[in-house]
Amino acid sequence: MTPTEIQRPMPARGRILTGDRPTGRLHLGHLVGSLTNRVRLQRDFDTILIVADLHMLTTRPERADIDLILDRARGLVLDYLACGVDPDLTTIFLQSGVPEVYELNTLFQNLITVGRLNRLPSLRDMAGVHGAAMSYGLMGYPVLQAADILLPRADLVPVGKDNLAHVEIAREIARRFNKLYGEVFPEPRALLGEVPTLMGTDGQGKMSKSAGNAIFLSDDPALVRRKVRAMFTDPRRVHADIPGQVEGNPVFDLHRAFNADLDELRDLEERYLRGAVGDGEVKDRLVAALDLTMGPIRARMAAFEAQPGLIDQILLDGTERVRALAAETMKEVRAAMGLDRALVRLRRASERRARRQGAG
Ligand code: TRP
Repeated sequence: MTPTEIQRPMPARGRILTGDRPTGRLHLGHLVGSLTNRVRLQRDFDTILIVADLHMLTTRPERADIDLILDRARGLVLDYLACGVDPDLTTIFLQSGVPEVYELNTLFQNLITVGRLNRLPSLRDMAGVHGAAMSYGLMGYPVLQAADILLPRADLVPVGKDNLAHVEIAREIARRFNKLYGEVFPEPRALLGEVPTLMGTDGQGKMSKSAGNAIFLSDDPALVRRKVRAMFTDPRRVHADIPGQVEGNPVFDLHRAFNADLDELRDLEERYLRGAVGDGEVKDRLVAALDLTMGPIRARMAAFEAQPGLIDQILLDGTERVRALAAETMKEVRAAMGLDRALVRLRRASERRARRQGAG
């Protein structure tokens, strides 16, 4: 690959880096929380999406999970493209395919304290969810994330609330590096998605794959209908003529997120509040609204799936491009730190010895 093939014009507003761990397919919560935002931003920013498989290892280091990485990565890429991520505008890459990530992570580990990392609630949550003690790697999760962000020298990091503190760690590491060794990294800013978190179909909390309460972008219409039909509503409302709650009711939460017909939405809410509409009708309207949202996503998904090798090529090209960016950054990092000096001097001395021996 020649440098011109991997060069992309840098839009005036800078570079974005964000992404996901390859732990499963994406759902409607991702769509409102992050995907729509990424699609909107990709014209104005050089957007890079990371498939963060090394981060997956911090809680799932088993061989069985590693063997699933490629298929999961393909699923993620397909979900991105289906939502409107344009492979001509956005670079998608596999984290483990860029060795410089590991390299920068090692150097960054010295620029943050254990105390600072230990205070992050997100790490305790992740260890808790996994039911395991915190591994050394999991404690280093935000450091590795800082390496992801700073390696391509991203300016902006669109994330959800749970990742805000990690972007702050990346900023602190960038500042510390620049102070110790000279200006190499921009201080990345976090961009928080504006949309509130989407509730899961069980009404118990936010939509998440691990809670089993998600509607996936790859669910077919019949499955979406079944999931909506089985949804939790207002438990006190055992008959259609009992006034119900629309706040904290996941069916209305999804309606508000996806029903573009605001008159219909207002009418349903108003009738629900006074007990003049059944759950069945509210759910049927939701199924229709979801069909409108998911129809174009399904069509794009089918179109990309019909082109064999395309997903793989996008992921491979993206990984090569990020490797090239990473190599440039690491050259500067080693020079700024003076870390390249020792080996250079050893080599020069060795060459001198060889010349002397050749001459003598
Ligand atoms: N930590 C992110 C998550 O919640 C995934 C991720 C890994 C990421 N590296 C990143 C997000 C860099 C933004 C920037 O799954």
